[in-house]
Amino acid sequence: MERQEIQKIKLVPTEDGTSTFFNQSLQEHYHSLSGSYTESMHVYIESGLRFLAQSQITVFEVGFGSGLNALLTLIESLTRSLKIHYFTIEKYPVTEELWTKFNLPAHIEQYLNYFITLHKSPWDKDVQITGNFVLHKILGDWTQYEIQEEIDLVYYDAFSYDKQPEMWAQERFEMICRKMRPGGVLTTYAAKGVIKNNLRQAGFSVWRLPGAPGKRHMVRAIKI
Ligand SMILES: C[S@@+](CC[C@H](N)C(=O)[O-])C[C@H]1O[C@@H](n2cnc3c(N)ncnc32)[C@H](O)[C@@H]1O
Repeated sequence: MERQEIQKIKLVPTEDGTSTFFNQSLQEHYHSLSGSYTESMHVYIESGLRFLAQSQITVFEVGFGSGLNALLTLIESLTRSLKIHYFTIEKYPVTEELWTKFNLPAHIEQYLNYFITLHKSPWDKDVQITGNFVLHKILGDWTQYEIQEEIDLVYYDAFSYDKQPEMWAQERFEMICRKMRPGGVLTTYAAKGVIKNNLRQAGFSVWRLPGAPGKRHMVRAIKI
């Protein structure tokens, strides 16, 4: 997959009024067209962050993309006084020209400055965004990456298995598992059989949950 190819990205609206991006090379949307904010809240915040019920959490996100998951996590850290260390990896960052056009829902517009800061923060180092939120964006390829830290929660937000099966390999889930304590949580919008099977083989118990609008199911996996 050529870097130039995957960077053919355009902005598109979703049904809840929030934007998403569309990768023209892979023909993949970054979120569900039924609502990007709604999906991120359901899959990652409600089914992951709130489910974990800890006040100090190390998060690892696969695919920084629009920065929406990162922003929603930062907002949760402010409203619920959570201490978050947020790691996120991205191979193909979106350009400033694109992310500045990203439409947030009106009720979180007040956090726009944080959205800008998340995008403008330098790569490959810890950046203190608020007293409670440290961001660490990794510019790299997930398929080659070894997590260094102990992590509590993973937002597995890669493009689909059909387009990028290598992102969902059992070996990727095994590496995550080694970096988690028992009880660690991974959530993803995807619920394909092969993904659930790879998670189980890697050492997770796998729970199929109702999906966000437009998707029947999602997955929550818990390290045994
Ligand atoms: C479904 S989108 C993620 C959406 C994102 N979490 C958000 O909140 O907007 C998948 C992301 O994975 C990135 N990606 C694709 N291949 C990758 C790779 N090999 N390593 C790291 N990131 C990759 C894409 O560029 C894209 O940003």
